[in-house]
Amino acid sequence: MGTVTEAYNKNGRVVSADLRVRLRAALVLAGIAGTSVGHYLTPPEHLLWHNVFQRLYYLPIVYAAIQFGVPGGLAAAAVSAVCYIPHIVLTWRGWQQYSAHQYAEIVLFFLVAAVTGALAERSRRREQELRRVYQELENSVEQLRRADRLSAIGQLSAALAHEIRNPLAAIEGAAEILARPATPDEMREEFLGIVRKECLRLNRLLGRLLDFARPRPPERRPVEIARILEDVVGLSRHSAEKNGVRLRIELAPGLPVVVADPEQLTQVLLNLAINAIQAMPQGGELLLSASRQNGGIAVQVRDEGEGVPPEHLDKIFDPFFTTKADGTGLGLAVAQQIVTRHGGRIEANRNPERGMTFRIWLPVEPH
Ligand SMILES: Nc1ncnc2c1ncn2[C@@H]1O[C@H](COP(=O)(O)OP(=O)(O)O)[C@@H](O)[C@H]1O
Ligand SMILES: [Mg+2]
Repeated sequence: MGTVTEAYNKNGRVVSADLRVRLRAALVLAGIAGTSVGHYLTPPEHLLWHNVFQRLYYLPIVYAAIQFGVPGGLAAAAVSAVCYIPHIVLTWRGWQQYSAHQYAEIVLFFLVAAVTGALAERSRRREQELRRVYQELENSVEQLRRADRLSAIGQLSAALAHEIRNPLAAIEGAAEILARPATPDEMREEFLGIVRKECLRLNRLLGRLLDFARPRPPERRPVEIARILEDVVGLSRHSAEKNGVRLRIELAPGLPVVVADPEQLTQVLLNLAINAIQAMPQGGELLLSASRQNGGIAVQVRDEGEGVPPEHLDKIFDPFFTTKADGTGLGLAVAQQIVTRHGGRIEANRNPERGMTFRIWLPVEPH
């Protein structure tokens, strides 16, 4: 299929290029013919017009040299000479000096054609060279991108293996103890609990990983950010109360409706809110705010927690980066992925006083 389409395309391009060449050649000939007709029809006493027509030949010659290089320019000069010489012979017979000037002009036709053609060929060669270099550059950028993707997959697998090994080891150890007939009942209870907990943890990890690895494309529809923020507050109220965190929403007036996937947006903001609440074990305020910005909407999640140390700032969006004993390290990676798929941006900044502000910018209409 691919080759057929390609051949067709190539063919199509060749045909249209061929047509263009013919049109340009016709234009050159028409120029020469028009000049010659004007020249022959002007009576000899209009010396000024003769001089003008004589020089008008340069236009098609220069044009031919630019379009077709030296051979094209010389051919146009030759055709012009052939058209011009009978005129010199017929009209200016007897005016030897004037005729000599005109023959000299014909020599100039060829000279101008050769020089212009050579210059045009040189600039065309340069252009081709530039195009080739550009193509090479594009290819290597594409290769780099592929390599980057592969190394990301490699890193992800390594991190995943690490994440799975710990719970597996715990489950294996517990199973061994459970298998011993001498294990007392209350110990069985305890180790069964460990098995269950580790299974849950693996399950949650896999769920998050699938979200990350096989993200569902956003199902976009018009969404009111205010509704999303209210949902997020509702969903995180329980954890907030446990940590003594106050939740507050601040909306700028006249917010536009954004076209986005409401569930994914809720997931992103909930991830940020839960992170913020977890960062404030001693309580504080979590502020969710939204305002218009740069033709889009900016949503900020601001906490008064411990903050991210500067040396971790460029790692927190990496999959599996976590500082929590029971963290998956996928919350921010998923958030970033979703926001990017919506044509937006996410960034994390340390607040001047304390805590963090995560800022999301979304276009009103993603492309
Ligand atoms: N609001 C925040 N305050 C302080 N640290 C944060 C905040 N949000 C994220 N982090 C840091 O970024 C890490 C990665 O977050 P995330 O991707 O959500 O994974 P997880 O929450 O499972 O650890 C967290 O472990 C934490 O160290
Ligand atoms: Mg998280």
